[in-house]
Amino acid sequence: MLARVRLVLVGPPGSGKGTQGPVLASHLGVPHISTGDLLRRHVDSGTALGRRVAEVIDRGELVPDDLMIDVVVDALGDAATRGYVLDGFPRTVTQAEVLEKGGSALPAPDLAVHLTIPDEVVHQRLAKRAIEEGRRDDADPEVIERRLRLYREETEPLIAHYRDRDALVTVDGDGPLEDVSSRLLDAVSRQAPGEPRR
Ligand code: AP5
Repeated sequence: MLARVRLVLVGPPGSGKGTQGPVLASHLGVPHISTGDLLRRHVDSGTALGRRVAEVIDRGELVPDDLMIDVVVDALGDAATRGYVLDGFPRTVTQAEVLEKGGSALPAPDLAVHLTIPDEVVHQRLAKRAIEEGRRDDADPEVIERRLRLYREETEPLIAHYRDRDALVTVDGDGPLEDVSSRLLDAVSRQAPGEPRR
């Protein structure tokens, strides 16, 4: 059984974390938790947190680590010990370190899955979503560039962080959705062999 697998998805904007996260979570029988979705729900509901982070998200900047850690501890709840697919967290080495030292509230991941796609595909996918879904941080190419730059500066160091811990798999996120899903499920099964939960 792939019980209690804790997996984090790391990849640039538009790499498919939010699309493939639920596929992986369903395969593993654990919850999928997207920090971007959580934050957008706060913004849409007009909570104090949502009012605080709305402009940060629209500018394509990162929400401060301390706020994010509170959001994730709150969202994980019981899932922390039952397993999870976390999408969008950690996004900085500080967040990864908290996830490793966080004890029962935030147990460390077993595996980090690094999804890769070329920058031009990022721009194509996000421009399309801006038209179809109206996400404000997709609408301006400069904001997309800022998200990519912050990804390289703040998030990419996580690749070495997890590789050093022998807890990294890299998967090509370009190509048809079903092909990416197959590559991901293959890669994860090889790292955590066993029968998927039904
Ligand atoms: P978040 O929502 O996590 O934004 P992101 O990382 O920029 O990721 P995206 O949602 O744009 O892309 P994705 O990789 O999930 O791809 P998706 O599957 O959606 O975070 C938003 C903001 O919140 C951040 O900028 C930051 O401000 C803040 N935040 C969140 N977490 C934080 C943290 N931990 N610390 C600090 N701040 C934080 O796909 C994108 C599009 O492509 C979709 O339309 C999809 O349908 C399409 N697509 C996917 N796969 C394919 C495919 N194979 N072929 C064709 N199209 C595809």
